Amino acid sequence: MAAARRMLVVGAGTMGGMYARMVAAGRVPGAELAGVVDIDGARALELANATGCRAFGDIETAVRELRPDFAYVATPDGLHRAPVESLAGLGVAILVEKPLATTNEDAAAMLEAVRRAGVHAEVNYTYRWFPPLAEAMRTVDSGELGELRTFNAYLNYPVASPRERLHWSGGTTPAWFLMSHLLDLVLWLGRKRAMTVYASGGRGELAGHGIETYDWVHAVVRYADGADGVFEACWILPDSWPAPAEFRLKAIGTQGVLEVDGTAQGLMVAGERVRLPGALQWAPARLQAFLRGMAGEGRPGVSFEDGAEVTRVLVALHRSLEHGTVERL
Ligand SMILES: NC(=O)c1ccc[n+]([C@@H]2O[C@H](COP(=O)([O-])OP(=O)(O)OC[C@H]3O[C@@H](n4cnc5c(N)ncnc54)[C@H](O)[C@@H]3O)[C@@H](O)[C@H]2O)c1
Repeated sequence: MAAARRMLVVGAGTMGGMYARMVAAGRVPGAELAGVVDIDGARALELANATGCRAFGDIETAVRELRPDFAYVATPDGLHRAPVESLAGLGVAILVEKPLATTNEDAAAMLEAVRRAGVHAEVNYTYRWFPPLAEAMRTVDSGELGELRTFNAYLNYPVASPRERLHWSGGTTPAWFLMSHLLDLVLWLGRKRAMTVYASGGRGELAGHGIETYDWVHAVVRYADGADGVFEACWILPDSWPAPAEFRLKAIGTQGVLEVDGTAQGLMVAGERVRLPGALQWAPARLQAFLRGMAGEGRPGVSFEDGAEVTRVLVALHRSLEHGTVERL
């Protein structure tokens, strides 16, 4: 049996903590947790103690001392570039959280860094591994639906996400945080290249709590082949919302339609209140796919090129949001 791949987690927050615990608990065969890095030393130490690995305050020391096979980068949205450039320069394979970058310059620099270093690198657009969507992709691949022509999708979160869990929500938007997944799914399912985007959004609810960002964003994207998509990302569902998220994707093709409802995942619990807990845990499968990608096996992962394409759409989308214009890409 091949030796387990040693993982370094960069960013010991919500996602870094989840991936570190998942690997430390043995839920990803073939992966082993080597250490965690965070610029907040106390956070790194707390997570390292909880998962039985070593804590570091910088990537260079961690890589020198641990020699990890790959790193999982889970720093805030606009702060992926510096860790990715360091890791690539040190020859470490990289799985970086979505969105790849929040500017086209950062995306291009990261793409260049991993190309120059020749390291395996993927973006963590995890919804591609959500079981109903993985099955949807097989249906699209079979040709049964013909050519996909229109998409309609939403991904919405209860307000506790930006208000309580994400302390930097004022520095991002529901489009970067949520809609990025939807844009990636259309890129993946339909191999569509965006030509124009128009977006509109609203503010007020979160701003009332001192969080200066959009409450919701709507966007219409037209693709080069004449297909289009309508997307919604909203961050102010009431906290009484019974599920972790509200998710739906519909794609209409020339010969058929597919619809994925990801809100209720087949489990309802009626205890103190009625809940639809997320029952389909797909992060372990996603990480295993990355390990296969490192070994040159399995289906292609989410390339940095795809990550840069989603960033390109989102940069134009935010220009449209600000100016009320239809933006050409
Ligand atoms: N794939 C998904 O489904 C999914 C879900 C949620 C969040 N995310 C993404 O994951 C990323 C992290 O989100 P989060 O909620 O875990 O954030 P978080 O704020 O909980 O954690 C981020 C951590 O990164 C640390 N950090 C910042 N700069 C650093 C640096 N240069 N080096 C090392 N550590 C640094 C911070 O101190 C913090 O501990 C974001 O890009 C977010 O969009 C992805």
